Amino acid sequence: MPDFAPGGKELDCQQTLLVIKPDAVRRRLVGEIIRRVEADRFRICDVRLTHLERARAEEFYAIHQGKEFFAPLVDFMTSGPVMALRLERPDAVRRLRELAGATDPKQAKPGTIRADFGTTTRENVIHASHPDENPEQEIRFYFGNHR
Ligand code: CMP
Repeated sequence: MPDFAPGGKELDCQQTLLVIKPDAVRRRLVGEIIRRVEADRFRICDVRLTHLERARAEEFYAIHQGKEFFAPLVDFMTSGPVMALRLERPDAVRRLRELAGATDPKQAKPGTIRADFGTTTRENVIHASHPDENPEQEIRFYFGNHR
């Protein structure tokens, strides 16, 4: 079903990347997370379960290189498989970040995925592309040139 802005104009679809992190895969939260994004009218365009090699995790999080949490973040992201999903809906990037909640689960709004399931700032269940951190490039990282 298409989405419409007030006045009846059809809204453009946008794509974003969701990564379900190793903590969530281990804790069998994949189904619940996908249920939530589908209930919010995201369409799943592509999905991939993969175990990142260290160099790949370092590349994905290169923007955080030099920060004190970088090495433990890479340890965590390579500690088990992740599930990457290419998702689509109008306003996808902003909306997925809203569903995700703040990076620190303790600061996240009640009802968001991180508030409900995150345990620490690092083990925060999912990654959702940030509008300033090139969602297109993040999608390509997992899915190559998909269009
Ligand atoms: P994510 O949205 O995937 O983007 C970068 C990740 O680094 C973040 O989620 C957390 O997993 C992790 N991270 C960010 N800030 C911190 C921090 N202060 N301490 C530990 N981990 C962090």
